[in-house]
Amino acid sequence: MSQLVGARLIGVGAAVPAAVVTNADLEKLVDTSDEWITTRTGIKERRVVSEDETASGLAIDAAREAIAHAGIDSGIIDLIIVATSTPDNLYPSTACMVQAAVGAARAAAFDLEAACTGVIYALAVGQQFIGSGTFKTVLIVGVDIHSRFLNWEDRNTCILFGDGAGAFVMQATDGDNEILATYLRADGSGGHLLLIPNTGAAYPHAGTTPPKAMHRFLHMNGRAIYEFAVNAVPEAVKAACARAGIRVDDLDFLVPHQANQRIIKAVAERLGMRPEQIVSNLDQYGNTSAASIPLALRDALRRRQIVPPATCALVGFGGGLTWGSAIVRWTAGT
Ligand SMILES: CC(C)(COP(=O)(O)OP(=O)(O)OC[C@H]1O[C@@H](n2cnc3c(N)ncnc32)[C@H](O)[C@@H]1OP(=O)(O)O)[C@@H](O)C(=O)NCCC(=O)NCCS
Repeated sequence: MSQLVGARLIGVGAAVPAAVVTNADLEKLVDTSDEWITTRTGIKERRVVSEDETASGLAIDAAREAIAHAGIDSGIIDLIIVATSTPDNLYPSTACMVQAAVGAARAAAFDLEAACTGVIYALAVGQQFIGSGTFKTVLIVGVDIHSRFLNWEDRNTCILFGDGAGAFVMQATDGDNEILATYLRADGSGGHLLLIPNTGAAYPHAGTTPPKAMHRFLHMNGRAIYEFAVNAVPEAVKAACARAGIRVDDLDFLVPHQANQRIIKAVAERLGMRPEQIVSNLDQYGNTSAASIPLALRDALRRRQIVPPATCALVGFGGGLTWGSAIVRWTAGT
């Protein structure tokens, strides 16, 4: 087999809505408390879109920031992949909307749906296109606005999620491959544990019989997802490290999907990683689904928790069920 072309990340960006919803705000909506939410999840506040904000708008802002960080002209982008479960419409894809807005005139564009693991799946797909020599520059965006599908009277779910977008620019490199390995998994038999039903074409007569709002809310079995996550995340990191030919001890940082601080802590302990190696901004944004990993990485670079060069395990899990990890050597400037 011919030698694959190496790929590296050269830019990261993120965008969140301006409106902040604090735990104190949620105390006015449901029977909960700042103390319960903080101790059970680590979340203090989250961002929520206003009526006129959209997933595509956040995706475009995050993409522009990543392109500026990479220092490239958007005209050289060959492919745009947007990972989202909450697109503006069934089509055109959010990726096509980003393509037009950022002026990536020659780029192919498509959406990919793997819930909160979406950005890891997109990184793996982008790496394949670069590795095969098909494309040189790939823009990846993860965006979700789950607030549009939350039951704001259900304390089990409405406290957890926030809206946001994150983006990476990935490019072929003459030097060493810096996406060292990826590992993707799915288990469709667990799809019922986390879902947003009646939002697709399975719902009959969509034009004449709108579903009751209640039927379109996010549903979750929190305990089952918790158990799944604390097992799936260490498995994915270990498997991706094995593929990369490194040990977990060789990792400098873990950039996990931001769902629950207790999950992050349990995973770090299982992997034998120290608190200062764990990237988290969950307290400010909650679970932003497909956006959370680039959003967390961008903030860790900004506050100089991560200073390149650094070997990072990016790891996601979520609906589908899906999970996966990418081992990335981050050398791009901050
Ligand atoms: C949802 C989650 C925070 C619940 O935490 P938990 O410690 O498992 O809590 P439990 O479900 O056992 O509930 C304990 C009690 O708190 C109550 N409770 C649930 N949400 C509450 C809230 N927001 N405020 C106050 N009490 C709450 C429950 O009703 C339950 O009461 P009961 O004992 O009287 O029945 C936790 O299971 C979790 O984070 N799961 C993973 C979810 C996730 O990551 N989803 C996204 C994946 S991408």
